[in-house]
Amino acid sequence: MTDDLMSRDGRTIADIERLRFFPATATGGAGSYVVEEGGRRVLDFSGSWGAASLGYSHPAVVEAVSAAVGDMGAICLGSCAVEPAVGLAEDLLARMPDERERRVWFGHSGSDANDAVVRLLEAAMPRRGILSFVGAYHGGSAASMSVSGHSSQSHAPARPGLTRLPYPDPYRPQFAPDLVEGALADLDRRFESEIEPDEIAAVFIEPIQSDGGVIVPPAGFLKGLEERCRAHGILIVVDEVKVGIGRTGLFHAFEAEGLSPDIVVYGKGLGGGLPLSAVVGPAALMDFSSAFAIMTAAGNPVCAAAGRAVLRTVEEEGLTANAAAMGERLLSGLARLAQRHALIGHVRGRGLACGVELVRDPVSREPASSETAKVVYRAHQLGLILYYVGMQSNVLEFTPPLTLSAAEADEGLAILDRALEDVAAGKVADEDVARFAGW
Ligand SMILES: Cc1ncc(COP(=O)(O)O)c(C=O)c1O
Repeated sequence: MTDDLMSRDGRTIADIERLRFFPATATGGAGSYVVEEGGRRVLDFSGSWGAASLGYSHPAVVEAVSAAVGDMGAICLGSCAVEPAVGLAEDLLARMPDERERRVWFGHSGSDANDAVVRLLEAAMPRRGILSFVGAYHGGSAASMSVSGHSSQSHAPARPGLTRLPYPDPYRPQFAPDLVEGALADLDRRFESEIEPDEIAAVFIEPIQSDGGVIVPPAGFLKGLEERCRAHGILIVVDEVKVGIGRTGLFHAFEAEGLSPDIVVYGKGLGGGLPLSAVVGPAALMDFSSAFAIMTAAGNPVCAAAGRAVLRTVEEEGLTANAAAMGERLLSGLARLAQRHALIGHVRGRGLACGVELVRDPVSREPASSETAKVVYRAHQLGLILYYVGMQSNVLEFTPPLTLSAAEADEGLAILDRALEDVAAGKVADEDVARFAGW
């Protein structure tokens, strides 16, 4: 029996918990690098799907977590007013875009946070309908899956009363001649015919649709959606789990269009790697006691302390501005790569939430799904962690730590350049990638 980490993983970890793209291992991490079994350092352009907002082993998180765990690790927020959790709630409330009275709920993951929103809506709102988007990923737990629309979750039943709208995609526009006008007119038409708007409780939206393909909605769409929701009393739930907390060069991604959401959902980067999520919503809804449910360790002092350290560090180290600057550097480097590699169909993103869509043909835009699997496989061989997303599994996703340096950005671009070249030259075989299912 082989005893390397990958073999032990194969004997112990459930397949349903795996999302593997290449034979990666991890025994440590520092800054933007993961340390693999055997000691190789690999640059991480995924940042563990955006969770490693400050990279790995950032001293601010290490210190905050160590202090909290050495002090009162297990205290339950549900039954006790706990300093780090209340402090973190105050930090989040202070960042809301308007003066409405709000409360904060804490959980462990983006999934349970979106679940909590569905539970609250169900309990507190007489309206039964929900809107979300084709391609949306709001989580892997029952209720969050039931309002998602991602191809990887086709096994999960949609929530009764759910309507999925097309998420406007500038590279693959669903409406012509004007994508924004078309998408909003489509919504208006639905409100007049197939959906009763006064029966809709809320719309769930990702301000950049991440797992659906890093789709940046065209300017004006989010605002137009907000206006229509306001007109019909539909609550706006913005899922900032992947792109919030400074990643897009703004604290909230929704600020790009000056939205004022009713409910904001946080996860991933908020905990800097620790299991932490939060929902910030209207007090009347968040205090609705008939929706009572409790999770013993939610908002625990260790994770809350990590969250406070992340928010403080993002501010003190100017990481929102760094995300904007490094994002521009990545996007212009990727645009240069697009001129040399026929596989690159589209480069897009905002700050350090970038996507590169790979296609077989620039005119037909046929998704290059197997080639994408090979590119990330080869990139890993060459020293770069990069995963892919998208309904056709053909979009490279870049969500590196917000602490990324210019040298690291350039290093990753150089590796990707070579990986694209090697795949085009046929250096990666179908069999190499066959055992990695990806999405
Ligand atoms: C936008 C969005 N919401 C929610 C989730 C679920 O978060 P988690 O996997 O931490 O439960 C994800 C995960 O990819 C996400 O991208």
